[in-house]
Amino acid sequence: MSARILDGNALSVQVRSQLADAAAALSARGVQPCLAVILVGGDPASAVYVRNKVAACEKAGIKSLKFEYPQDVDPARVFERIAALNADSSVHGILVQLPLPPQFDEKAVLEAISVAKDVDGFHAENVGRLSQGQEAFFPCTPHGVMKMLEAAEVPVKGADAVVIGRSNIVGKPMAVLLTNAGATVTVCHSQTRDLAAHTRRADIVVAAVGRPRFLKADMVKPGAAVIDVGINRLRDGAEAGKLCGDVDFDAVKEVAGAISPVPGGVGPMTITMLLANTVESARRAAAKAGL
Ligand code: GUN
Repeated sequence: MSARILDGNALSVQVRSQLADAAAALSARGVQPCLAVILVGGDPASAVYVRNKVAACEKAGIKSLKFEYPQDVDPARVFERIAALNADSSVHGILVQLPLPPQFDEKAVLEAISVAKDVDGFHAENVGRLSQGQEAFFPCTPHGVMKMLEAAEVPVKGADAVVIGRSNIVGKPMAVLLTNAGATVTVCHSQTRDLAAHTRRADIVVAAVGRPRFLKADMVKPGAAVIDVGINRLRDGAEAGKLCGDVDFDAVKEVAGAISPVPGGVGPMTITMLLANTVESARRAAAKAGL
């Protein structure tokens, strides 16, 4: 039997419509949510991501500011911009698109962003707050995955979950969010000895490895929920240029109980949660100002 398809586009339309209503209500009170995006260098993928984020903001009634710098920019200029945006009360979210060129200390850049405006959820304080189960901005991709599981009514409490990948952006925060929601979580990565032995007993598998069609059908327990965070562009063969995820979708969908596609799965949800964090930051700013 074929798995249920977890449609991130449909869920995004629904959530973004609620966010547009919330943004309109805040704007009517004089606090239009505003996201500032900083893009350094000419990486084409980053440029596309930033363009999509800005377009999604505009559509939801969220103001966006875009600051672009050349590849060889002096990091001091970017730090100055971040300081000015931190001090600007009309800005609620600040996002520096990663990766940054080699002259940058990426950690220092992320730490320079005000914790209250860190809508990416990458600041060490937000990471710490998340791991303690305190109020924090959750990183957008894992937050989007949790929303998809919730919307699809996939039971998380008590479930065995396997996260493949241990990045700061996806794998680690994903493991924390699943743990906080009551799952028993295993994080697998390139050093894991028998990865399939772990995935085969998992009720939920989140694949964030960055390797095309890495998760095969014989690595998945029948009926499991499989979430594909990968976005890989195939380079060779008849399918060159095509986008595909970290999951061998056509085969795994015949085994899994639920599966997210690529494209149209986690991708749109990542941007949706960025909008959600920006609206939430504006709501907190309005409450603080007594508006
Ligand atoms: N680069 C790849 N994904 C992301 C993301 O979610 N946020 C930022 N700032 N950069 C990224």
